[in-house]
Parts: sequence; structure tokens; C-alpha cells
Amino acid sequence: MHDHNTLADNLPKTNDSDQSGSNSVVRVRVFRKSDSEGVRRLFKTCLLTGEGAPPRAHLAATIKSPSFLCALTIFIMSVMITAATVFNSEPASHILLSGRSSAAKIRLVMVISIALLALWYLCYSIYSAVGFYLQFVSTCLRTDLMDIQGHYNLHQVKSSSDKILEDSTDPELRPMGIKAFWVAETVSPVTKKTEIVGCISLGDPPPPPFTSEPGVRVAELCRMVISPHHRRQGIAGALMQACEAHAMANEHKLSAIVLRTTFYQPHARKLYAKLGYRIVLETNVRFGNADVPVFLYRKDLMGHKNKQHF
Ligand SMILES: CC(C)(COP(=O)(O)OP(=O)(O)OC[C@H]1O[C@@H](n2cnc3c(N)ncnc32)[C@H](O)[C@@H]1OP(=O)(O)O)[C@@H](O)C(=O)NCCC(=O)NCCS
Repeated sequence: MHDHNTLADNLPKTNDSDQSGSNSVVRVRVFRKSDSEGVRRLFKTCLLTGEGAPPRAHLAATIKSPSFLCALTIFIMSVMITAATVFNSEPASHILLSGRSSAAKIRLVMVISIALLALWYLCYSIYSAVGFYLQFVSTCLRTDLMDIQGHYNLHQVKSSSDKILEDSTDPELRPMGIKAFWVAETVSPVTKKTEIVGCISLGDPPPPPFTSEPGVRVAELCRMVISPHHRRQGIAGALMQACEAHAMANEHKLSAIVLRTTFYQPHARKLYAKLGYRIVLETNVRFGNADVPVFLYRKDLMGHKNKQHF
């Protein structure tokens, strides 16, 4: 079996330095139980709030869109008209409650209704821009990331005599099938302090409409995230290398790896294109009033080439 627990050959040292000034070393290895919290925290940061998180890009595009700017202008104007009525002439409550000036009453009710409608549209657009990713992250945290060892079928490493090698509470694990989960961790050369800075997994093939043709052995690469403080150091590339080596190992011999990403993850798309993944399907996933463009990428392994992929 391919050794998943060694340092990746060409991994860089990070820019982090400890008190002695030495740079931390990056290590790619199979997930262990003690990584669970670190992985979950990292996943939430990278996909929801951290630099380069897709909801941030989607939100930025949404608030620059003509419909959002139009609704914002209408909202501001309606609030200004209401405020002018309230402060410059009679109080709104007085106009609404007094028996006189029904034209002024109708005008004020209409302006307030327009303001509320515009506000509802603005809030709904913001919710739609981030909701897709919120739902995705929450599903991941409730499913595979809740029990990584169980979901990815990782077993404790055993010796040839079938005895468990390590009698520790946090033993080394090994994937028993094609599914697997790796982490990248930094290790300080002096203090030996470790930190999970990236992860990746290989799982079942994706569901329709992303499914592959029958009879072709395909797995999906998922959960690819790198800490915002450790980017552009080749760590994602090293994790993908570990994943591909596992997929190509003799006991698996997958024909291809597929993965999904969105329009709002431009760095990931550059990474996948650089590593030889090609878009084979584009589709829009509707969430609220937003369309999220989703791309299916594919890379054929070991000379497996299928002209009609999907
Ligand atoms: C996408 C992501 C995983 C890349 O991680 P990384 O460790 O910085 O990537 P690497 O250093 O291995 O970069 C490899 C190549 O990817 C491309 N790339 C990565 N980040 C890039 C960026 N910010 N701008 C342009 N190209 C970038 C480049 O081609 C790069 O090669 P180069 O450095 O020789 O130019 C990381 O930015 C991330 O976690 N983003 C947020 C979460 C996310 O979108 N995950 C993908 C889920 S599908």
C-alpha cells in the first residue's frame, strides 16, 4: 500500500517562524482522531469567513449588481422621504392617525411600503449570496466531518502479525479503501508544536447531474482548504499529490478523479487547471434569488482517456 504518512517530497518550509526564528516544517499525513476539531474549524474559516472564502466573493459581486444597487437607491430614497415627512412637517404617526389629509396618509404608507419591500429584497439577496455556502458547510459538518474516521473508513495501523502497532489514544490511521482523508500540519522544529493548516479528502463519486458514466472507476476529491495564513506555499498541490497517488495505487487504480467547485472560488479553479483538471460540466445551482455557477472538473489518471465523459 502507498505510504500515506510520509512527508511529501517537495513540501516547502512555511513563512512561520517560532521563537528561535526557525521556519516550521509542513507535513502531509493521513487524518488522526485528534485533528477533528482543527479540521472543522479550518473548514468553516476557509469556506465561510476567511480571506478568499467564496461567500465573500459572491457577496461582493451581489452588492455591485444593478438590481441590488437599484433596490438600495430606492430604499435610501424612501427612508429619506419618510424622514423628511417625520422631521420637517408633521410626525408620521400624526399623519397616519389624524382624520385629515388622506392624500398625505396614502403617500406616506406607500413610501414606507416601498422602503420595506426594498429592504426585504436587499436582505434576501444577501441571504441568497451566502446561503448556498452556509448550507454546504453545515451539511459537511453534520455528515463526513462529524466522524471523519468512520466516514472515510480509516483504521488503526496494524503490524504484519495483526497486532495494533501503537497503544496510544491517538493512533496512526490508514485508509482501508478508496475513500481517504489527509491533513497538512505545520511542525515547529524547536517547540514541536503542530497546527492543522490544510485538508483534502477522496470520497464516493458525485451525485446526478455530476455522475460519471457506468463502469468507470471515479472518486471525488473534496474538502480542499488551506489556512489563509499558509497559502501560496504549495501546500494544496502537495495534498492533491497525496490524493492522486492514493487513487493511482495498485489496489485502487481509479480511471479518473472528479471534483466540484464554484465560480466564486477563482484560486481553486487556477489550482485545478494548473494540475491538469479540465471542466467537463457547468451548471447553475439556484439558491434563493441567486444562481451559483458550479463546475465539474475531471482528470484522467494513468492514461485512462474517455472522450465522452458526461
Ligand atoms: C484554493 C486553495 C486551496 C489554494 O491553496 P494554496 O496552498 O494556496 O495553493 P498552492 O500554493 O498549492 O498553489 C498552487 C497553484 O494554484 C494557483 N493559485 C493558488 N492560489 C492562488 C491565488 N491566490 N491566485 C492565483 N493563483 C493561485 C496557482 O496556479 C498556484 O501555483 P503558483 O503558486 O506556482 O502560481 C486556497 O486558496 C483555499 O483554501 N481557498 C479557499 C477555500 C477553497 O476555495 N477551497 C477549494 C474548494 S473546491
